[in-house]
Amino acid sequence: MTTQPALDDLFERRITYPDIETQARLARLIGLDEQKSRLTKILALLVNPAGLEDWARHHHPGAQALLDTVLRRPPLVILAGDVGSGKTELAETIGDAVARQERIDITLLPLSLSTRGQGRVGEMTQLLSAAFDYTIAEANRLKSVSGKARGAVILLVDEADALAQSREATQMHHEDRAGVNAFIRGIDRIANGKLPAAVIMCTNRLSSLDPAVRRRAAEVLSFARPSDDQRRFILTSRLESMGIGRVHIDQLVAATGAERGKRDYGFTFSDMTQRLLPSIVLDAYPSRAVEGARAVEVARTIAPTPPFRDGAPA
Ligand SMILES: Nc1ncnc2c1ncn2[C@@H]1O[C@H](COP(=O)(O)OP(=O)(O)OP(=O)(O)O)[C@@H](O)[C@H]1O
Ligand SMILES: [Mg+2]
Repeated sequence: MTTQPALDDLFERRITYPDIETQARLARLIGLDEQKSRLTKILALLVNPAGLEDWARHHHPGAQALLDTVLRRPPLVILAGDVGSGKTELAETIGDAVARQERIDITLLPLSLSTRGQGRVGEMTQLLSAAFDYTIAEANRLKSVSGKARGAVILLVDEADALAQSREATQMHHEDRAGVNAFIRGIDRIANGKLPAAVIMCTNRLSSLDPAVRRRAAEVLSFARPSDDQRRFILTSRLESMGIGRVHIDQLVAATGAERGKRDYGFTFSDMTQRLLPSIVLDAYPSRAVEGARAVEVARTIAPTPPFRDGAPA
């Protein structure tokens, strides 16, 4: 006999939106406007399908068949892409935008797989089934018979590579397959119940996801490293007020980009915000002011995080 996982073991840092601190975190994300907007729309429709019907009555009366194909999409969105590019940050904060737009409360249930489900046989499957049971019970409570739900639930499966690896991978253990099946069953249960719930899955390796999981995704949103313009924006918005001028900003943009013959990738968003900017400040602190030429030198000593090559082994 195995025991059911306790609720506290299942989810970490449960967050309820609207939440003012989350709103600020979401606003700090750069270059993700397209992802933000699409994710907000998808989640808002799962919560309030009547919104689309109102829109259609107004603009396209008689378009019911088309509406169905939009509304019947499975409640799964995959955020895929490079390390440190804002996937987790967006997944953890987007609920605030939807809650404000739809004027309801939304609860995020973050299920972290990175440190779990690696032990006893059956653990992953049990964890997933319990997480979906809980999500579905919550969503059922919030569902309303007609029109708009009273609230909604987002189940976040971060670091999903651990879970939904291709069932075709030959080395895959029988138990992993059961985990994938439990996941697919959970998605289908939410869809069939027309519940105000959605699942967001984050992964570095889209290609390693099980095809049956990918097929169920209503959308796959991709995330990349910042472009020259986006790095320039981060640098200017943080360093201009410290007196760093155009010439040094240009050099910093170059120093944080790809370098011919040396590396074909530049800094990630997190390399910029969590490594470079603090290093520049701490280099000057406590005895000197931040200074352009020195900031460029600091940037040159930092090596960007290597990309997670999709398809390559971990
Ligand atoms: N688009 C962005 N704009 C501003 N800051 C960002 C952006 N993306 C990431 N960051 C910064 O990098 C940190 C790490 O981002 P996050 O945890 O969301 O990355 P991730 O895409 O989930 O990476 P991983 O694949 O390694 O889990 C964030 O807390 C934030 O400070
Ligand atoms: Mg992450």
